[in-house]
Amino acid sequence: MSGTENQIADILLPSASICVFSQDSDTIKSIELLKDDWRFARVDINIVDGGVDNAIEQFKKDGASDLIILQTDDIDDSFTGRLGELSNYCDDDTDAIIIGPVNDVYLYRQLIDMGVSDYLVRPISPEVIKEVIAKALISRLGVSDSRLVAFIGAKGGVGTSSLAQICSLIASDIMEQKTLLMDGGGGWSPLSVGMGFDPATTLPEVSNAVLSGDEDALERMFHDVSDKLTVLASGADTMLDPSISSKNYEAVIDNIMVKSPVVFVDLSSSESAIKKMVLSRAHHIIVISSPTVTSLRFCRSLLKEISEVRGGDIDDVSLVINQVGVCKANEVSNDDIEKALELAPSASIDNAPSLFFKYESEIMGIISDKDSSRLVTAFLPILGETISGEGNYIGDSEDKNSSIFGGFLNKLKPKSK
Ligand SMILES: Nc1ncnc2c1ncn2[C@@H]1O[C@H](COP(=O)(O)OP(=O)(O)OP(=O)(O)O)[C@@H](O)[C@H]1O
Ligand SMILES: [Mg+2]
Repeated sequence: MSGTENQIADILLPSASICVFSQDSDTIKSIELLKDDWRFARVDINIVDGGVDNAIEQFKKDGASDLIILQTDDIDDSFTGRLGELSNYCDDDTDAIIIGPVNDVYLYRQLIDMGVSDYLVRPISPEVIKEVIAKALISRLGVSDSRLVAFIGAKGGVGTSSLAQICSLIASDIMEQKTLLMDGGGGWSPLSVGMGFDPATTLPEVSNAVLSGDEDALERMFHDVSDKLTVLASGADTMLDPSISSKNYEAVIDNIMVKSPVVFVDLSSSESAIKKMVLSRAHHIIVISSPTVTSLRFCRSLLKEISEVRGGDIDDVSLVINQVGVCKANEVSNDDIEKALELAPSASIDNAPSLFFKYESEIMGIISDKDSSRLVTAFLPILGETISGEGNYIGDSEDKNSSIFGGFLNKLKPKSK
């Protein structure tokens, strides 16, 4: 079984439309519950009080949904005949799940032969219906393409951790994206101080749980800051021992990427191998520098190395200049920064010691502070671009027809010819 299938219960499902035709209040209730389940946040569920005739009518008029769930009390030949007619209005890869009144092996085989994904006998528990739908959607559309965003400073102390935390709050609380923030800093992680929790674990423990597939242990290693923001609660590591390998850190990221649509990684205190791995994999990188000559020198070298690990381009890199105004007389202007780095800053953040120190150990409050509006406004466009991965899924089109949930019409058509 693949890692993805193992973790089916914890995956944000891909965007999809589901039409449910049922007249059974228990089934309808079970499916209604899915609308409040975060895993189904991108799944559009339309429930119709009706049966196969209503489905034919609706699909004829509006076209088919990605998945149809049809409940029936009639399982005679007239039903399978109507199902055949319904398939005329389905797309090649529309999936169908039938809910019927009896456990009938002959009927089950007949329906599966017709291309139906699954036949369930009522009553069905909400857990079963959730799992069956999740499997059908993942099999058809693949795993959601979560966004990995890396934050890295041109040098130490330029505000990388603070800005990564602020961005995760903007993404979750203002942009309402389910976001996960983690860092590779081990014992140097500032996350527990900023987000106000006791570090529950260490990076080696997280990586062991991932490698051994211990999802229960892993679940306890996260801290929910809010409905939409979760942080990996590492940081109990020793400070002076080596951290985990980049390969093991990558396994942790792989595990988290199937659970959260937006993953932010603060690389400021990470070892170089972890930095390099994350920078090569990230969908977007936010490089932070102060406007001083020293920081910008490091920044130029860093941008060059980032370009090398990413196959020669820095298209997905945003440059943020932080603490502008801290030492006006010795600062480099944005125009000169652009000339020197061949990259225009995407945002300039003012030096605001009173704002930053006020929230250093309670950063959750910063984005609602009256003095933070410029900060939020500066990041909104960057984050909009950075996390707009909606609708991009790793479809497994080659596998689609060979999967156990082959397309409804696809299987039905050749048999009816
Ligand atoms: N725009 C700003 N104005 C004022 N203070 C700031 C600003 N940005 C960050 N700071 C402050 O600078 C200090 C260093 O910030 P932070 O720890 O986020 O930097 P870092 O780059 O992650 O450091 P490290 O290299 O140690 O990981 C913190 O006290 C933070 O509050
Ligand atoms: Mg830091």
